[in-house]
Amino acid sequence: MILERNNFMNLKQVMKDLEKSPLKGPVKNLKDLAEVYQLRHAGVNEIGTKLENLDDEYSMNYDHNPIHHMEERMKSVRSLVGKVLKKRIPMNTKSIDNEIKDIGGIRVITNYIDDVYRVEEALVQQSDVTLLKRKDYIKDPKPSGYRSLHLVVSVPVFQSNGVFDVPVEVQLRTVGMDMWASLEHKLRYKTNVPKKKVDQHADNLKDYAAELYDIETRMQEIFRDLQG
Ligand code: GTP
Ligand code: MG
Repeated sequence: MILERNNFMNLKQVMKDLEKSPLKGPVKNLKDLAEVYQLRHAGVNEIGTKLENLDDEYSMNYDHNPIHHMEERMKSVRSLVGKVLKKRIPMNTKSIDNEIKDIGGIRVITNYIDDVYRVEEALVQQSDVTLLKRKDYIKDPKPSGYRSLHLVVSVPVFQSNGVFDVPVEVQLRTVGMDMWASLEHKLRYKTNVPKKKVDQHADNLKDYAAELYDIETRMQEIFRDLQG
Protein backbone atom coordinates (compact mmCIF):
# COMPACT_ATOMS: atom_id res chain seq x y z
CA MET A 1 0.00 0.00 0.00
CA ILE A 2 1.24 3.47 -0.87
CA LEU A 3 0.87 6.41 1.51
CA GLU A 4 0.86 9.88 0.04
CA ARG A 5 1.24 12.94 2.26
CA ASN A 6 0.06 16.34 0.99
CA ASN A 7 0.70 19.61 2.84
CA PHE A 8 2.58 17.71 5.49
CA MET A 9 3.02 19.64 7.77
CA ASN A 10 5.00 22.63 8.72
CA LEU A 11 3.73 24.56 11.74
CA LYS A 12 6.01 27.52 10.97
CA GLN A 13 4.43 27.72 7.51
CA VAL A 14 0.92 27.45 9.03
CA MET A 15 1.77 30.36 11.35
CA LYS A 16 3.07 32.41 8.40
CA ASP A 17 -0.05 31.65 6.35
CA LEU A 18 -2.29 32.57 9.30
CA GLU A 19 -0.42 35.86 9.75
CA LYS A 20 -1.16 36.75 6.12
CA SER A 21 -4.80 35.59 6.23
CA PRO A 22 -8.02 37.48 7.09
CA LEU A 23 -8.05 35.48 10.35
CA LYS A 24 -5.28 37.72 11.71
CA GLY A 25 -7.06 40.34 13.77
CA PRO A 26 -10.38 38.57 14.41
CA VAL A 27 -8.58 35.54 15.91
CA LYS A 28 -6.95 36.96 19.06
CA ASN A 29 -4.13 34.45 19.41
CA LEU A 30 -3.04 32.81 16.17
CA LYS A 31 -0.81 30.40 18.06
CA ASP A 32 -3.93 28.79 19.58
CA LEU A 33 -5.22 28.14 16.07
CA ALA A 34 -1.84 26.75 15.02
CA GLU A 35 -2.16 24.39 18.00
CA VAL A 36 -5.46 23.17 16.57
CA TYR A 37 -3.54 22.35 13.37
CA GLN A 38 -0.89 20.50 15.36
CA LEU A 39 -3.50 18.40 17.19
CA ARG A 40 -5.41 17.60 14.03
CA HIS A 41 -2.14 16.52 12.44
CA ALA A 42 -1.52 14.21 15.38
CA GLY A 43 -5.05 12.82 14.89
CA VAL A 44 -4.30 12.08 11.23
CA ASN A 45 -1.14 10.26 12.32
CA GLU A 46 -3.12 8.14 14.81
CA ILE A 47 -5.86 7.16 12.35
CA GLY A 48 -3.36 6.71 9.50
CA THR A 49 -1.37 4.24 11.59
CA LYS A 50 -4.52 2.32 12.51
CA LEU A 51 -5.43 2.01 8.83
CA GLU A 52 -1.93 0.85 7.88
CA ASN A 53 -2.03 -1.77 10.60
CA LEU A 54 -5.44 -3.02 9.47
CA ASP A 55 -4.22 -3.32 5.90
CA ASP A 56 -1.17 -5.33 7.05
CA GLU A 57 -3.24 -7.62 9.20
CA TYR A 58 -5.78 -8.17 6.47
CA SER A 59 -3.18 -9.04 3.88
CA MET A 60 -1.61 -11.55 6.25
CA ASN A 61 -4.81 -13.29 7.36
CA TYR A 62 -6.88 -13.06 4.22
CA ASP A 63 -4.28 -12.75 1.47
CA HIS A 64 -5.98 -9.55 0.29
CA ASN A 65 -5.10 -5.87 0.72
CA PRO A 66 -8.33 -3.93 1.13
CA ILE A 67 -6.47 -0.61 0.83
CA HIS A 68 -5.05 0.28 -2.56
CA HIS A 69 -3.49 3.50 -1.27
CA MET A 70 -4.02 6.35 1.18
CA GLU A 71 -3.62 10.10 0.98
CA GLU A 72 -3.22 12.24 4.06
CA ARG A 73 -3.67 15.98 3.86
CA MET A 74 -3.98 19.04 6.07
CA LYS A 75 -6.42 21.72 4.97
CA SER A 76 -4.58 24.77 3.68
CA VAL A 77 -5.14 28.02 5.59
CA ARG A 78 -6.59 29.42 2.37
CA SER A 79 -9.20 26.70 2.13
CA LEU A 80 -9.92 26.98 5.88
CA VAL A 81 -10.65 30.68 5.43
CA GLY A 82 -12.88 29.84 2.46
CA LYS A 83 -14.92 27.42 4.56
CA VAL A 84 -15.16 29.82 7.53
CA LEU A 85 -16.57 32.52 5.24
CA LYS A 86 -18.87 30.17 3.34
CA LYS A 87 -20.34 28.60 6.48
CA ARG A 88 -20.41 31.99 8.26
CA ILE A 89 -18.47 30.59 11.22
CA PRO A 90 -17.39 33.21 13.80
CA MET A 91 -13.70 34.03 13.39
CA ASN A 92 -12.39 32.69 16.66
CA THR A 93 -10.38 29.60 17.50
CA LYS A 94 -13.14 27.97 19.57
CA SER A 95 -15.76 28.18 16.81
CA ILE A 96 -13.32 26.99 14.17
CA ASP A 97 -12.22 24.10 16.38
CA ASN A 98 -15.85 23.13 17.12
CA GLU A 99 -17.27 23.46 13.63
CA ILE A 100 -14.55 22.50 11.18
CA LYS A 101 -13.82 18.80 11.49
CA ASP A 102 -11.86 18.32 8.30
CA ILE A 103 -8.67 20.28 9.00
CA GLY A 104 -6.99 16.87 9.08
CA GLY A 105 -8.15 14.39 6.46
CA ILE A 106 -7.37 10.93 5.15
CA ARG A 107 -8.56 9.51 1.86
CA VAL A 108 -8.61 5.72 1.71
CA ILE A 109 -8.76 4.24 -1.78
CA THR A 110 -9.85 0.62 -1.71
CA ASN A 111 -9.71 -2.11 -4.30
CA TYR A 112 -13.36 -3.16 -4.09
CA ILE A 113 -16.68 -1.75 -2.85
CA ASP A 114 -16.86 -4.36 -0.04
CA ASP A 115 -13.49 -3.10 1.18
CA VAL A 116 -14.91 0.37 1.85
CA TYR A 117 -17.34 -1.02 4.41
CA ARG A 118 -14.86 -3.60 5.71
CA VAL A 119 -12.30 -0.89 6.47
CA GLU A 120 -14.99 1.36 7.96
CA GLU A 121 -16.16 -1.35 10.33
CA ALA A 122 -12.67 -2.38 11.37
CA LEU A 123 -11.79 1.23 12.14
CA VAL A 124 -14.98 2.35 13.85
CA GLN A 125 -15.23 -0.72 16.10
CA GLN A 126 -11.90 0.15 17.80
CA SER A 127 -12.58 1.18 21.38
CA ASP A 128 -10.68 4.46 21.12
CA VAL A 129 -12.34 5.55 17.87
CA THR A 130 -15.68 7.39 18.02
CA LEU A 131 -17.84 7.93 14.96
CA LEU A 132 -19.04 11.55 14.95
CA LYS A 133 -20.59 11.78 11.49
CA ARG A 134 -21.29 9.48 8.56
CA LYS A 135 -22.53 10.28 5.06
CA ASP A 136 -22.83 7.41 2.63
CA TYR A 137 -22.60 8.92 -0.84
CA ILE A 138 -22.12 5.41 -2.26
CA LYS A 139 -25.67 4.38 -1.40
CA ASP A 140 -26.96 7.93 -2.09
CA PRO A 141 -24.66 9.53 -4.66
CA LYS A 142 -24.54 13.32 -4.99
CA PRO A 143 -26.45 14.88 -7.94
CA SER A 144 -23.09 15.14 -9.77
CA GLY A 145 -22.71 11.35 -9.58
CA TYR A 146 -20.06 11.60 -6.83
CA ARG A 147 -19.69 8.47 -4.72
CA SER A 148 -17.68 8.00 -1.50
CA LEU A 149 -18.23 7.18 2.14
CA HIS A 150 -17.49 10.23 4.33
CA LEU A 151 -16.78 9.74 8.03
CA VAL A 152 -15.71 12.06 10.78
CA VAL A 153 -14.12 10.08 13.60
CA SER A 154 -12.55 11.22 16.80
CA VAL A 155 -9.45 9.70 18.38
CA PRO A 156 -7.62 10.50 21.63
CA VAL A 157 -4.25 12.15 21.21
CA PHE A 158 -1.84 11.97 24.16
CA GLN A 159 0.24 15.10 24.54
CA SER A 160 2.61 16.34 27.22
CA ASN A 161 -0.17 18.65 28.44
CA GLY A 162 -2.95 16.08 28.54
CA VAL A 163 -5.19 13.94 26.37
CA PHE A 164 -7.43 15.45 23.70
CA ASP A 165 -10.17 13.96 21.52
CA VAL A 166 -9.34 14.99 17.97
CA PRO A 167 -11.63 14.83 14.92
CA VAL A 168 -10.34 13.48 11.60
CA GLU A 169 -12.23 13.30 8.32
CA VAL A 170 -11.93 9.96 6.52
CA GLN A 171 -13.12 9.64 2.94
CA LEU A 172 -13.33 6.06 1.66
CA ARG A 173 -13.83 5.20 -1.99
CA THR A 174 -12.84 2.59 -4.57
CA VAL A 175 -10.22 3.02 -7.28
CA GLY A 176 -13.01 3.61 -9.82
CA MET A 177 -14.77 6.21 -7.67
CA ASP A 178 -11.43 7.94 -7.11
CA MET A 179 -10.62 8.04 -10.81
CA TRP A 180 -14.05 9.54 -11.46
CA ALA A 181 -13.74 12.14 -8.67
CA SER A 182 -10.32 13.31 -9.91
CA LEU A 183 -11.60 13.97 -13.42
CA GLU A 184 -14.83 15.56 -12.21
CA HIS A 185 -12.85 17.78 -9.85
CA LYS A 186 -10.70 18.91 -12.76
CA LEU A 187 -13.81 19.76 -14.78
CA ARG A 188 -15.31 21.69 -11.86
CA TYR A 189 -12.25 23.90 -11.37
CA LYS A 190 -11.30 24.51 -15.02
CA THR A 191 -12.38 28.10 -15.59
CA ASN A 192 -11.27 28.45 -19.20
CA VAL A 193 -13.69 25.86 -20.64
CA PRO A 194 -16.96 27.16 -22.19
CA LYS A 195 -20.06 26.49 -20.08
CA LYS A 196 -21.74 24.47 -22.81
CA LYS A 197 -18.81 22.09 -22.91
CA VAL A 198 -18.64 21.82 -19.12
CA ASP A 199 -22.36 20.94 -18.95
CA GLN A 200 -21.98 18.33 -21.62
CA HIS A 201 -18.98 16.72 -19.91
CA ALA A 202 -20.80 16.85 -16.57
CA ASP A 203 -23.80 15.07 -18.11
CA ASN A 204 -21.58 12.36 -19.52
CA LEU A 205 -19.65 12.02 -16.27
CA LYS A 206 -22.88 11.46 -14.38
CA ASP A 207 -23.68 8.52 -16.66
CA TYR A 208 -20.14 7.19 -16.38
CA ALA A 209 -20.33 7.25 -12.58
CA ALA A 210 -23.26 4.85 -12.75
CA GLU A 211 -21.51 2.67 -15.33
CA LEU A 212 -18.33 2.53 -13.27
CA TYR A 213 -20.34 1.53 -10.22
CA ASP A 214 -22.01 -1.21 -12.23
CA ILE A 215 -18.66 -2.53 -13.49
CA GLU A 216 -17.12 -2.38 -10.02
CA THR A 217 -20.09 -4.31 -8.62
CA ARG A 218 -19.68 -7.04 -11.22
CA MET A 219 -15.90 -7.24 -10.77
CA GLN A 220 -16.51 -7.49 -7.06
CA GLU A 221 -18.70 -10.54 -7.71
CA ILE A 222 -15.94 -12.26 -9.68
CA PHE A 223 -13.49 -11.50 -6.88
CA ARG A 224 -15.88 -12.87 -4.23
CA ASP A 225 -16.33 -16.02 -6.26
CA LEU A 226 -12.57 -16.52 -6.58
CA GLN A 227 -12.04 -15.90 -2.85
CA GLY A 228 -14.61 -18.64 -2.16
P1 GTP B 1 -19.84 18.90 5.13
O1 GTP B 1 -20.44 18.63 6.47
O2 GTP B 1 -20.46 20.07 4.43
O3 GTP B 1 -18.35 19.00 5.16
O4 GTP B 1 -20.29 17.63 4.23
P2 GTP B 1 -19.44 16.41 3.65
O5 GTP B 1 -18.05 16.36 4.17
O6 GTP B 1 -20.24 15.18 3.78
O7 GTP B 1 -19.40 16.64 2.09
P3 GTP B 1 -18.88 17.88 1.29
O8 GTP B 1 -19.92 18.20 0.28
O9 GTP B 1 -18.40 18.98 2.17
O10 GTP B 1 -17.63 17.32 0.50
C1 GTP B 1 -16.39 17.17 1.09
C2 GTP B 1 -15.35 16.74 0.06
O11 GTP B 1 -15.85 15.66 -0.71
C3 GTP B 1 -14.98 17.78 -0.97
O12 GTP B 1 -13.94 18.62 -0.51
C4 GTP B 1 -14.50 16.90 -2.12
O13 GTP B 1 -13.20 16.40 -1.87
C5 GTP B 1 -15.45 15.74 -2.05
N1 GTP B 1 -16.65 15.95 -2.90
C6 GTP B 1 -17.90 16.18 -2.47
N2 GTP B 1 -18.75 16.30 -3.51
C7 GTP B 1 -18.02 16.13 -4.63
C8 GTP B 1 -18.33 16.13 -6.05
O14 GTP B 1 -19.46 16.31 -6.49
N3 GTP B 1 -17.28 15.91 -6.90
C9 GTP B 1 -16.01 15.68 -6.46
N4 GTP B 1 -15.06 15.48 -7.38
N5 GTP B 1 -15.70 15.68 -5.15
C10 GTP B 1 -16.67 15.91 -4.24
MG1 MG C 1 -16.67 18.12 4.39
